[in-house]
Amino acid sequence: MKDLGARKEELEPIEIASRDEISALQLRRMKWSLQHAYDNVPMYKARFDAKGVHPSDLKSLADIALFPFTVKSDLRDNYPFGMFAVPRAQIQRIHASSGTTGKATVVGYTKADCEVFADMVARSLRAAGVRAGDMVHNAYGYGLFTGGLGAHHGIERLGATVVPMGGGQTPKQVQLIHDFEPQAIMVTPSYILNILEEFHKQGLDPRACSLDVGIFGAEPWTNAMRDEVEQAFDMHAVDIYGLSEIMGPGVANECVETKDGLHIWEDHFYPEVINPETGEPVAQGERGELVITTLTKEALPMIRYRTRDLTRLLPGTARSMRRIEKITGRSDDMMILRGVNVFPTQVEELVLMTGGLAPYFQIELYRAGHMDAMRVHVEAIPRAADEASRAAAARMLTKRIKDIIGVSTEVLVGDPESVARSQGKAVRVVDNRKGAQ
Ligand code: DLL
Repeated sequence: MKDLGARKEELEPIEIASRDEISALQLRRMKWSLQHAYDNVPMYKARFDAKGVHPSDLKSLADIALFPFTVKSDLRDNYPFGMFAVPRAQIQRIHASSGTTGKATVVGYTKADCEVFADMVARSLRAAGVRAGDMVHNAYGYGLFTGGLGAHHGIERLGATVVPMGGGQTPKQVQLIHDFEPQAIMVTPSYILNILEEFHKQGLDPRACSLDVGIFGAEPWTNAMRDEVEQAFDMHAVDIYGLSEIMGPGVANECVETKDGLHIWEDHFYPEVINPETGEPVAQGERGELVITTLTKEALPMIRYRTRDLTRLLPGTARSMRRIEKITGRSDDMMILRGVNVFPTQVEELVLMTGGLAPYFQIELYRAGHMDAMRVHVEAIPRAADEASRAAAARMLTKRIKDIIGVSTEVLVGDPESVARSQGKAVRVVDNRKGAQ
């Protein structure tokens, strides 16, 4: 794989500034953001007043803990534009994420917000090893989802060539990658596996294709998946994180030279990690729920937004800005089986280390008597699709799940291509429990 790490002189000064400089900038911007939210969003004014806090109470960054949290339902309760801090006419763009229940979460951006969005995606791409003049195949979905357009503007901002493919049409994805020879691809980690399969179907060697790096995000994925994809394509696999409520893709990104977690772009987003049960900040370096305060957002300032994403904060390495560890999952994705907490990412790791299995899986939850139970649907690779190999793979995966995660499960090894393929964010868990919420 190519050495794609950025040279110091290619970086923005703030990326390698001292911690003191970063903190001073954050404090200045945090004061502005709190005041902006308080003055222009009735919900924030009411919440701050009810808690007896005022933006002027913020004397140091740690004082952010005095302020109330914001949660996803606040956006729903103020649907569609009730949390916007600027007149509607100053909104340049709207995105929305479709909730599984009820109304969509609507977010908006001023012209300046769109500029920051493009800048942060461009910075993320540079961290991933993309340069001006490269070509980037963008397979994130276009439309209300922030992935497609967010990536698109960042690619242009960097001065690279964008192929605005969007999601779906998998045979065409492969054809265009083969014919256009892009250096980079942006896509969800589950969809790259679908694309990988299509390479084989078309008789093309993925290792021989032009791609030097893939920038994968929008859903959790593991280091085991990184190895799988890096081997399959002979390219770097780098993690990109973000969420619509805060901006979209490009809130944090891994550096290709270290691949040791994602640097959070702290000049625009202030991170905290809290204990999800108590809401208290965890000790430094401990795992918990990521909470983000936007520092420069005009249209939709977010104060202490609870992301539900579980991770921990780590000091900077390739950049001065702190890192978040690869996300384990969302607290909402956690399954509790006989008292044991299980995340789909844990199952992913074990599926990938089990011989004879393809890298696709889906978890089914069902009720066994009064207990919740889990069944893992996987599939055999074509050359291990006979009865005996399948039975061996099923036994091995069942044992690993029991030994490593600590729960008893049923593993069903289906025919090749029997597990549903993803074209964007994968559906990892199907809940068939009666009366499941
Ligand atoms: O998924 C934005 C995005 C697009 C990020 C493309 C990266 C690439 P939402 O649809 O609002 O926005 O979903 C946000 O997806 O809270 C996480 O739970 C999850 N997520 C996003 N990136 C990662 C990642 C986009 N790298 C939600 N690792 C977030 C794990 C991720 N989970």
